[in-house]
Amino acid sequence: MSVSSKIDLASFVVHTGLDNQCREFLGHVIHLEQTTEVHFGVEELLEKVGETLHPHIIFVGMGPQQNKTMLNEIAQLLRMQVPEAAIFFVTTNRADFHRHDYIKNGFTEAFVLPLETAVLKTAVDKIISDATGSEKKKFRSVFLVDIGGEEPLDYDVYLKLALNGKQIKIVPKNESIEPEMIAKMKKHNHNSLAIPLEQSDAFFKASAKRLANLGKNTTLTETEKKEKMGSAVRGLFANLYEVESMEATVEKGAQALENCREIIKNYVKIADPESGTWFDKLQSAMGIADDSYNHSANVSSFASMFSMALGKGNPEEVALAGLLHDLGLADVKPEVMAMDPSQWSPADKREFEKHVDYTLNMIRFRKMIIPEKVMKAIAQHHEKMSGTGYPKGIPGDRICIEAQIIALADRFEELMFPKKGMRPMNPIEALETILMKDSQNPSEATFDAKLIRELLDVLKK
Ligand SMILES: [Fe+2]
Ligand SMILES: [Fe+2]
Repeated sequence: MSVSSKIDLASFVVHTGLDNQCREFLGHVIHLEQTTEVHFGVEELLEKVGETLHPHIIFVGMGPQQNKTMLNEIAQLLRMQVPEAAIFFVTTNRADFHRHDYIKNGFTEAFVLPLETAVLKTAVDKIISDATGSEKKKFRSVFLVDIGGEEPLDYDVYLKLALNGKQIKIVPKNESIEPEMIAKMKKHNHNSLAIPLEQSDAFFKASAKRLANLGKNTTLTETEKKEKMGSAVRGLFANLYEVESMEATVEKGAQALENCREIIKNYVKIADPESGTWFDKLQSAMGIADDSYNHSANVSSFASMFSMALGKGNPEEVALAGLLHDLGLADVKPEVMAMDPSQWSPADKREFEKHVDYTLNMIRFRKMIIPEKVMKAIAQHHEKMSGTGYPKGIPGDRICIEAQIIALADRFEELMFPKKGMRPMNPIEALETILMKDSQNPSEATFDAKLIRELLDVLKK
């Protein structure tokens, strides 16, 4: 296996035996603080380099004892240990500089600083771009769900280098993430992680499996489980928002949303294979480009994530209900659908409200085998806590939790992905807005404030 396919960020560059002056000059070549320092000495270097670290570049200074014999020994041993790495000797001592000797002993090159800083920088940049250049393929920004486990990963994990914006592989496929790496990732912010685009499916499946396992885990206490699930959902939402706001490219925002959707889709398949089949069929039947499909797919993902975060309802049933909830809109008279709701006559409004029954009829007509709870969630997704909703106007205590979650995700989706001309909100803003609106008009309140607050608690942590 080549060195470049077995690297992590901190071991991409290792340095040892640098004095303060060398450190200062090297600081102009590379972010030295992002690299790994190994204690100067044969034993420690050999134990680390090649065993746990697989650097592309090793900077070696003269060491504290200024011992030439030891320096040569180190060079020879490093050369054997990591034959493909660039081993650079750096010094500020021009008087006692014997380039030829250094190279003879195993160094790739030797540099006098600061004189040759520019040459060194060119060499370093070339190695970095060669190592990452072959990875010019597309990447998917991801959030890793519950990465604490021992299980090996089904995909390569890359980190975006602040240094040059390139992606660098930090965990190769089939390896598990070491605890130190997890700590480092958290420091670097989860959201700068990426996976190769062609490994997307493996990533979606693995993430869904982690979520499903978390839900079924019997060794964790309920509190621990809730905490872990909350953190997973929080991460997914944070990824969605952060990508949207900080690197506001359409492609990236869409990708983060697709991550959530695909993870949930795979989750449904794992948790309930029968519903999963429906889920799949529906998705392909509805057509990706369709606006109402997008709305439903988003509601489905958000509702399922809400259900996970709250520990209420069945995430897979909620996901299915989310996908189906507005299916009947297709049967509403087109002229009503084309109008702005503020222009509706009472008859138009009644026609629109029929979409709930149209949906249920459609499901029955197509003889879809849908769990009872899913049917109930669809039937009640426009009911309100205050009893002022439709079609039945039942009060809050009779609205099932699945329907409440769908309704919330429905409104939430509209605020996060508003129609043209309105500013999209982030998840926290959206939930707070919903909460505020209800509190201003309690006699027509739609949602259970307690539920929204609970969700806010999870997302705000
Ligand atoms: Fe609806
Ligand atoms: Fe809807």
